[in-house]
Amino acid sequence: QPVFLADYQPPPFLVDTVALTFRLHPGRTQVLSEIRFRPNPAATPGHDLRLDGEGLRLLSASIDGKSLMAQPDATGLTIPAADLPEDGFLWQAEVEIAPEGNTALEGLYMSGGMYCTQCEAEGFRKITYYPDRPDVMARFRVRIESDLPVLLSNGNPVDSGPGWAEWDDPHPKPAYLFALVGGDLVATTDSFTTMDGRNVTLNIWVRHGDEGKTAYAMDALKRSMAWDEQVYGRAYDLDIFNIVAVDDFNMGAMENKGLNIFNSRYVLATPETATDADFASIERIIAHEYFHNWTGNRITCRDWFQLSLKEGLTVFRDQQFMGDMRSHAVKRIEDVLTLRARQFREDAGPLAHPVRPESYVEINNFYTATVYEKGAELIRMLRLLVGEDRYRAALDLYFIRHDGQACTIEDWISVFEEAGGRDLSQFKRWYGQAGTPRIDVTEDWQDGRYTLTLRQHTAPTPGQPLKEPLLIPVALGLMGTDGREILPTQVLELDSPTLRVTFDDLPERPVASVLRGFSAPVILHHKLQSDERALLLAHDTDPFNRFEAGRSLARENLHAMVLQQTTAPDQNFIDALRVLLRDDTLDPAFRALVLRLPEQDDLAASLHEAGHTPDPDMIYDMRRAAQTAIARALEPDLARIAQQMETPGPYDPAARDAGRRALRVQAVTILAHADGGTAAAALFQSAYNMTEQMGAWAALLAIGAGEQEGAEFYRHWAQDRLVLDKWFMAQILHASPDHAVPLTDELSRHARFDWKNPNRFRAVIGALGANPAGFHRSNGTGYQLVADWLLRLDGVNPQAAARNSAVFETWRRLDTNRQSLIRAELQRIAGNPGLSRDMAEMVARMLGD
Ligand code: ARG
Ligand code: ZN
Repeated sequence: QPVFLADYQPPPFLVDTVALTFRLHPGRTQVLSEIRFRPNPAATPGHDLRLDGEGLRLLSASIDGKSLMAQPDATGLTIPAADLPEDGFLWQAEVEIAPEGNTALEGLYMSGGMYCTQCEAEGFRKITYYPDRPDVMARFRVRIESDLPVLLSNGNPVDSGPGWAEWDDPHPKPAYLFALVGGDLVATTDSFTTMDGRNVTLNIWVRHGDEGKTAYAMDALKRSMAWDEQVYGRAYDLDIFNIVAVDDFNMGAMENKGLNIFNSRYVLATPETATDADFASIERIIAHEYFHNWTGNRITCRDWFQLSLKEGLTVFRDQQFMGDMRSHAVKRIEDVLTLRARQFREDAGPLAHPVRPESYVEINNFYTATVYEKGAELIRMLRLLVGEDRYRAALDLYFIRHDGQACTIEDWISVFEEAGGRDLSQFKRWYGQAGTPRIDVTEDWQDGRYTLTLRQHTAPTPGQPLKEPLLIPVALGLMGTDGREILPTQVLELDSPTLRVTFDDLPERPVASVLRGFSAPVILHHKLQSDERALLLAHDTDPFNRFEAGRSLARENLHAMVLQQTTAPDQNFIDALRVLLRDDTLDPAFRALVLRLPEQDDLAASLHEAGHTPDPDMIYDMRRAAQTAIARALEPDLARIAQQMETPGPYDPAARDAGRRALRVQAVTILAHADGGTAAAALFQSAYNMTEQMGAWAALLAIGAGEQEGAEFYRHWAQDRLVLDKWFMAQILHASPDHAVPLTDELSRHARFDWKNPNRFRAVIGALGANPAGFHRSNGTGYQLVADWLLRLDGVNPQAAARNSAVFETWRRLDTNRQSLIRAELQRIAGNPGLSRDMAEMVARMLGD
């Protein structure tokens, strides 16, 4: 049942053109297809024709006009070679599908009365019979028949009339990039002129009533288009670019050629309804999907094992874009926080897999933090290793050489070897080896000679007991004890188990700033005294390592509190925070990040990494105790910040004001532990934007208050789906350990808990998983509740259920009681008859079968 990378075979038949006609109907949509096949010269001749198809009612089929008695099986149909003309043929078929009953949100489905599609990775086979694999690229022409006013597909519009529309996409594409939309929609329209003079119409289509919420997405789109021209020399290649927002969507968004389809939460925003974080996500995802037009669509993947070829690269590109739009320092810190929270977590557990997996049962289970975020880190490292200019040259070569092709990681590495002028065979191991490498740093200082020793080690992961040394770029600088830099950043290449570097003639023993800019996705162990960390926090020239010094101090303090059960952090940590808080030359966004204590899950992971069994309750208590101690010690400073960081308005989503709001909310959040929530309650009442309203309410919830504010919030926002998600989520996320499970249970009976909507499911059931002390109740009720809901969801939307099941992935680091409770739940899920392939694979991997 699993598919293996090693088994790749080129497609026996290629497709030149596809013509599709859709007669839209909720329960009986007819899909007519005409597909021109020809034998692939790169394959051996004489193959049967195998077409993928699932859940289709075949009405008729023919080859070159001769009708055919094809017998479909559960996954497609086969036409024997004997029935196929040797030098190509026209396949015609008519199938019927029922978008209305499609709750899996894959293929053609309905959301809020509108037709839409999601074909990546293998959804096109739920629309018609086709060789549904990314290395078959064809020109698509589409006719849509329906009374709905707006009918969209890929490419350029050809013509339309009452009840029909035709689209033609001149760029050959794999079926996963096919899209269709039909509905009563309204557009925000704008235009963009490309650097080669093409005038492009830009539309963002939404349901009536939402047209006032598209301005920011449109602005982000135009900036993305300009940026890709300036930075990568890539221009858009059609006359029209359509974006459609849909409420029911399994993922964030989809880069279908010329017709991007978005989860509405990544399009719709107003200052009153969306937080700064929402605005930033919209900007990032709009850019991400747009950037896919070159990295994904023009150059696509040969097979799904190569997924990171387009996703890692496109994530890296959206990270660069966001850095350019906002702040590189802050963006880098945020990206590393996400990487650690999601990808390191994946790498440390039973779901660990390489950036290029070697096998899968269900490819949808591999749209992961490892393929996306770690994949982006690999590209960042390549850029560091070859330098910025050669990076650009490698990308130019990639675009020229591979335009219109379906490629592999090998193709990608080759352009770097050629343009970068170096052998990268060792670097390539990063793509095949799972797990987060650990680097141990030791130092020696003798007679004016400073020696730094780096050791790398990667622990075994499922299926990979032995690990080979990787090529790891380690950016290093040296600081003097007076806070001045002695040695500016240089990049060491750690390519064997151990690397030793020496520095002579130093005036004094330096403080090493290792892994600047987080130059590689590794776990760094570098013992420093707390005054050395404080020095880096105050003076490091590398903003990431400044942040990191503060974070290490915080983590060490919290570890000590958990392990020794002391009730307060060290004075020097608090002093360091005070200095930082008072330094008004520092970017508020940066201060907000340093002020935020490591999350409970970060502490659990790092305690585990240090050889301890994390206790979720203890972690919760100690993190609160630390916040209380900080709040008491810094109360006047926090109160001053809360005042000082007021933004006068009108609301501006750009980085400057967003950073001030972030610091303000962070100050009020900590302050709540000393002032009983007075400042937070006041902020809630005075807030003119969702960032402060939501931030203030969350601060109240976290200290067990905020009930009245919650009721007010609900009364005000009950009619806004996206804000209502926040209402559900915040309560559960910030509920106390003993209240989280009963509250989730209660809210799952709420009239507005529409569990078939992926956003709402995540806002309720997903939120419990994101409240560690609540979810990990030692009586197992949290596990039970989540497992029940996963089973229920699996029956209607396997992909979403499987994705949510990853809440259990950390189970092996817990104590034996919790482990056996989770194992029992995973086994209960696994034993369920009729379990989806998606879920079966996830639980089997988590159980280690
Ligand atoms: N390619 C999309 C993106 O990264 C993600 C779509 C994934 N969909 C899925 N069903 N696995 O923007
Ligand atoms: Zn993507």
